[in-house]
Amino acid sequence: MSKSRKLFTDSKKVTPSGVNSPVRYFDPYPFFTKKANGAYIWDEDNTRYIDFCNAYGALLLGHRRKEILDSVTKQLSKGTLYCTPTASEIELSKLILGNFPSMDKVRLMNTGGEATMTAIRLARGYTKKKKIIKFEGCYHGAHDSVLVKAGSGSAHNGISVSDGGLDEVSKNTLVVEYNNIESLEKTISKNKDIAGVIVEPILANMGLILPEKNFLSDLRKITKENNIPLIFDEVVTGFRVSPGGAQEHFGIRPDITTLAKALSNGFTISAVGGKKEIMNLLSPGGKVYQASTFAGNPISVSAAISSIKTINKMKNKLYSKLERFNLLFSTALDDMATDMKIPHQINFTASMFQIFFTHKPVIDSKTSKKADGKKFQKLFRTLLKEGVFIPPSQFEVVFLSDAHTENDLNKTLDAYHSALKSVKN
Ligand SMILES: Cc1ncc(COP(=O)(O)O)c(C=O)c1O
Repeated sequence: MSKSRKLFTDSKKVTPSGVNSPVRYFDPYPFFTKKANGAYIWDEDNTRYIDFCNAYGALLLGHRRKEILDSVTKQLSKGTLYCTPTASEIELSKLILGNFPSMDKVRLMNTGGEATMTAIRLARGYTKKKKIIKFEGCYHGAHDSVLVKAGSGSAHNGISVSDGGLDEVSKNTLVVEYNNIESLEKTISKNKDIAGVIVEPILANMGLILPEKNFLSDLRKITKENNIPLIFDEVVTGFRVSPGGAQEHFGIRPDITTLAKALSNGFTISAVGGKKEIMNLLSPGGKVYQASTFAGNPISVSAAISSIKTINKMKNKLYSKLERFNLLFSTALDDMATDMKIPHQINFTASMFQIFFTHKPVIDSKTSKKADGKKFQKLFRTLLKEGVFIPPSQFEVVFLSDAHTENDLNKTLDAYHSALKSVKN
């Protein structure tokens, strides 16, 4: 019996479903990780995988990136948690504001979910209104206001509204289809009580779904005309799509932005930033409450400073390399599936891609759900057997990192070849 199997049996006795976050589970049991380095992750049986999960996008620079480990090690010798302000928090905030000109001020916190929860509370505090609009399939973390027709693990597990969530909360979340500006306009015109619109500028939690031309600019225009704060949830796209996130890439300025994941390349930290008239509402100066013992903890802050400095220093090389790799890979994969006569779609941008087994273009949550999920599971399992680890769900995306080499990509392409064969049979 493999060590992972034994550990999973053990884990189930002490942890619900044996995992600490739902997407980590896959049939018949997930591998248990022993270590990771660069582009690779090893399981407890010492099997090495090329890692294309990259901690669900957090590891833009790869595992154990030297610059980041160096600054964290330096900070460790000075203490791990003070719960007093530090000069390094100012340094980090200035770096974030430098990369995201839509923000006048930024508050640091811990997780993506905490950041979107605060962003929504800020929008409500600012407008004194109740309802928020989200897009079907967008995932913004595991809290009640946004766990409504969400993507990622909640779509994978068929949960539309979480049990235990209050109807009183979810009824204040209006859901419209991604890439459907008419339905957004209708919803806004019918409801006078909209506190904010939250969106993933690139939808990375239903597989990968790109915003259609004008979707984001129309969204900005309509929210502005109606005085509705627009929240860009850049937990995935921040630093991954460009140093200034999707908002830099598309040239759009939201009112509030959330960041996490690639902000620190693997440490627990997130951020909410935006216009000062909104951000100044946060306590203690304002009446919108947000607090956390671990917010701005020096370890994560040192990782984030180093991460942003590294990204900014190498940005010209970094993004063009990742985009080139992605284009080569996605094109080769597309050709391969076409040659094999497998109906498919490949959506890709920056350092993310996903394949869907369907005839129809995938442009929203409904078209994503129409893709053949069983085929995707076959693909995932064969890739794993061939030594390639991608996120185990159709409703996630494949993430490249700076640690991947051309050789890794060629090996991965061979693995996809075998995986596509298994899908065909
Ligand atoms: C776009 C987006 N927002 C928010 C979150 C929640 O972040 P966290 O898991 O750190 O709470 C995620 C997580 O995957 C995400 O993809």
